[in-house]
Amino acid sequence: MHYLDFLAALHERLAPPSYLEIGIRHGDSLALARCPAVGIDPAFELHVELRDDVALLRETSDEYFDRDDPLAAFGGEPVAFAFIDGMHLAEFVVRDFANVERNAEWSSVVVFDDILPRSLEEAARDRRSRTWTGDVYKVLDVLARHRPDLTCLRVDTEPTGSASRSGSTRCRASSASATTRSSPTSSRRTRSTCRPKCSSVPARSTPRPFWTRASGRCCARRASAG
Ligand SMILES: C[S@@+](CC[C@H](N)C(=O)[O-])C[C@H]1O[C@@H](n2cnc3c(N)ncnc32)[C@H](O)[C@@H]1O
Repeated sequence: MHYLDFLAALHERLAPPSYLEIGIRHGDSLALARCPAVGIDPAFELHVELRDDVALLRETSDEYFDRDDPLAAFGGEPVAFAFIDGMHLAEFVVRDFANVERNAEWSSVVVFDDILPRSLEEAARDRRSRTWTGDVYKVLDVLARHRPDLTCLRVDTEPTGSASRSGSTRCRASSASATTRSSPTSSRRTRSTCRPKCSSVPARSTPRPFWTRASGRCCARRASAG
């Protein structure tokens, strides 16, 4: 499944009330939104028409989240669905995730793109190829290590993988579902040896609404643990 089809399916099934996209470029993924949306990119160049309720911000995600009220564009409402596809370096993506999470709620869904590089060259931190994932693939390891409360799911999308997680919050327990590609050196192995609390979805399978069930389980667990 192509990542745009995956995103479109999420928009359809989740019907989120708000959508935040980091990294717009030509607007292909942002155009899938069916709700009030904010797109952030310091160098976007639209090739598609967008809805009237899409706000475009020509700035970096760090600048956006430095605002006094990043949620002003959503009328103060939390981000329900986010797509992180900006700077393809792990530390940027982890920071984007943390910032999104601060402005989301436990049931929110976040999709990461480019988690499955197809070659070492594509995964290099210094860009060497036309298509570039950078080392975004490291982010799931970071989450698995530092956020064991997150439930991760991996889904194989074309061309370089995407990742979604649901259920983050700034005030309560959260879960995460991650649909990702694995590291360039162990992509096939990683799919079948997912870490505890991560489950994998077979390649090319049709995504099912895992995010709802995953977040519900995790929340119940956290709630009972006090
Ligand atoms: C892969 S493209 C996005 C593609 C788009 N999401 C899509 O699927 O159609 C990555 C974009 O991230 C933008 N970008 C780079 N650094 C960024 C940052 N720090 N914050 C936000 N966007 C950034 C680039 O300008 C580029 O347009």
